[in-house]
Amino acid sequence: MSREKLIVRYNAAERINHWLVALCFVLLALSGLALFYPAFFWLTGIFGTPQLARIIHPFVGVLMFVGFLRQFFRYWHHNLINAEDIKWMKSVGSVLRGYEVGDIGKYNGGQKGLFWLMCVCLLALLASGIVIWRPYFSPSFPIPLIRVALLTHAVAAVLLIAGIIVHIYAAIWVKGTIRAMVEGVVTYGWAKKHHPRWFREMTGQSGAKEPR
Ligand code: HEM
Repeated sequence: MSREKLIVRYNAAERINHWLVALCFVLLALSGLALFYPAFFWLTGIFGTPQLARIIHPFVGVLMFVGFLRQFFRYWHHNLINAEDIKWMKSVGSVLRGYEVGDIGKYNGGQKGLFWLMCVCLLALLASGIVIWRPYFSPSFPIPLIRVALLTHAVAAVLLIAGIIVHIYAAIWVKGTIRAMVEGVVTYGWAKKHHPRWFREMTGQSGAKEPR
């Protein structure tokens, strides 16, 4: 049995909320692609029938937005970009080769960039989604605005899907990260290596590397 000391990173409510948002995202991405591109039309089966996919998709979108809003209010202050994050971003090549850069807090520059991308995309998806939502809202808007909203919806969806692919890849690639969102904990070693300032804040211990 591992004796490694653990730090709590997410409580149960945060994890349930995160996986609810993730489930909504998968359902929305698949049904959205199905409605957007004929070659993926068969994916409408995810909600039973094409008609049901068309009806349910926007409601799941609102649920995802509400779930994400909770994440926004919980994490925005951890995602403010500072000089250490810029250093991290400029040295992302070294980070990818396994050498961490900068005195990183709860999230690194890449995570912060993705967080703000998620915020912009979700806001754009909600606003444009309301404009194109038939039969409830779209009859109140002029056709040129509906056209712009359709384009905005598609562009924001593609950006979000690309961003979430990076988010998932990074979560799997940095060993020990998935555990944070499944069990809620990370090891001292993980925190010290990837998020030294957060490690110090959580434990009061120094996260400085041992001299070689
Ligand atoms: C679908 C598969 C997904 C997986 C496997 C996944 C995995 C993870 C993991 C492991 C973390 C913890 C990272 C850390 O603490 O360092 C995390 C954090 C987070 N995830 Fe996800 N996630 C997924 C989907 C999503 C989606 C769809 C969204 C929102 C659109 C999302 C939003 C977030 C946010 C906001 C955080 C906190 C990080 C921050 O504020 O920068 N995730 N995710």
